[in-house]
Amino acid sequence: MAVFSVLLSLAAPALMFLLLLLVIAFLGYCLYIKYIHMKYDHIPGPPRDSFFFGQSATLVKMMENDGNVHEKFLEWAEKYGPVYRLNVLHYVAVCTYCPETTKEILMSPKYPKEKLAYEKLFNLFGQRFFGNGLITARDHEQWYKQRRIMDPAFSSLYLRGLMGTFNERAEKLMDKLAEVAESKTEANMLHLVNCVTLDVISKVAFGVDLDLLNNSSPFPKAIETCLRGMVYYVRDMFFEFKPKNRAYVNKVREAARLLRTTGAKWISERKTAIQNGDEVPKDILTQIIKSASQEESMTEEDEEFMLDNFVTFFIAGQETTANKLGFCIMELGRHPEILEKARKEVDDVIGMKRDISYDDLGELVYLSQVLKETLRIYPTAPGTARDVAEDMVIDGIHIPGGFSAVFSSYVCGRLDRFFKDPLKFDPDRFHPDAPKPYYCYYPFALGPRSCLGQNFAQMEAKVVMAKLLQRFDFTLVPGQTFDILDAGTLRPKSGVVCILSHRDYKD
Ligand code: HEM
Repeated sequence: MAVFSVLLSLAAPALMFLLLLLVIAFLGYCLYIKYIHMKYDHIPGPPRDSFFFGQSATLVKMMENDGNVHEKFLEWAEKYGPVYRLNVLHYVAVCTYCPETTKEILMSPKYPKEKLAYEKLFNLFGQRFFGNGLITARDHEQWYKQRRIMDPAFSSLYLRGLMGTFNERAEKLMDKLAEVAESKTEANMLHLVNCVTLDVISKVAFGVDLDLLNNSSPFPKAIETCLRGMVYYVRDMFFEFKPKNRAYVNKVREAARLLRTTGAKWISERKTAIQNGDEVPKDILTQIIKSASQEESMTEEDEEFMLDNFVTFFIAGQETTANKLGFCIMELGRHPEILEKARKEVDDVIGMKRDISYDDLGELVYLSQVLKETLRIYPTAPGTARDVAEDMVIDGIHIPGGFSAVFSSYVCGRLDRFFKDPLKFDPDRFHPDAPKPYYCYYPFALGPRSCLGQNFAQMEAKVVMAKLLQRFDFTLVPGQTFDILDAGTLRPKSGVVCILSHRDYKD
């Protein structure tokens, strides 16, 4: 008992001292935040909802109401101009649509991807997710090594060789659409194109035949769950600690685990094939295995690193393209005159031909314009961010170093100063003779960290759209919303529900 009393008498001052240290640390941190506010508050920006969490409450509230936070960024851009400031804790984000700054920062390799968001995506609620894969790698050397190894799988020579798969998978969609047309039922086009793009990436990147239009699979749901979970994880730092979210957080972790265990299985099968001396394709999976290690034995970290890139390609290579197709079909459904013009071009270039060639794609100029215009209004991956260590002057405002520069293609694409009457869907903005947008249109980002799959995505989308226009008439089922669902990537909220019929070739 006496010993206990002695211990207590010693512990009490120690605890007091610890408490005092904590109070001092807390006050010190508050002062630091105050200092940061004073350092950057000359930059215009919306008022902070709270001292610590800046404007986060506004964004979290929008998210909870299923709103599109990019609309808020647009509203702020219109109100505060080409440079505005946001705060959270001691972090400062400078959102800018100044073309010169966009050019200076995005085109240069010296600004790393923004730390707060991209480092967070290493994990998803504690489950390793994108890790150090191509999208999230922040260290230049580490990223550059991977990118060099991946490049051959995206060369135009290699992409030409994928035309067979693009055609074959798009044909499966046409078969499905023919069934839907004959049964006169409604088609959720977003769901169907999602099956196609996931089929394509599984086949061409990993050599696996999912045939999702005919088989059920847990992957589309798992991808959707991860992307949605990512939004909460990145934008609301308390999300995982709220008891009401526990079940949801577990579901997201499970979905992320499913993708990684699938990756582990497919990688192991491929490695066995390589070891057995079987002929394997020089596809993305082979490159992923190459990029992890050139050594005989792989460490656990090498294995995890391969899975990082597996998840990166499984997600990046699919969802954004499907959403772009969904939005494109939605806009064509809303604009019969544009649909007619695109269809006429398809008839002239492709006619009744079943297999579309790489050269045909080059001739589908108007269809390219339609797809570009789709991504202007609906950039399915809506932005990117970089860390800037040194001082900068943006649009005449001095910005002290140590901030994150945020670039939104959603905001740029919808600003009247860059695109007159911005909400009007007008593919002629991208006519070959029209002036090129100057650093205000970047749905695939720009510079060294721009999208590796840009050409892949354009080719795939063109093949699907050309076949759809060639074979079917479609109308949007009335009464559906044209709203955007902000689910990490942007997607059409309605799912783009259409009634289809076979084309009458007499007209
Ligand atoms: C319409 C379709 C697509 C859009 C709009 C899109 C957009 C983007 C954007 C904006 C980035 C930059 C992301 C950031 O800075 O955080 C990016 C990066 C990337 N995308 Fe895409 N993407 C599409 C399709 C694809 C496809 C089909 C693939 C692969 C098959 C792919 C693979 C990648 C990769 C690997 C990166 C990281 C590049 C690097 O940092 O080196 N994307 N994409």
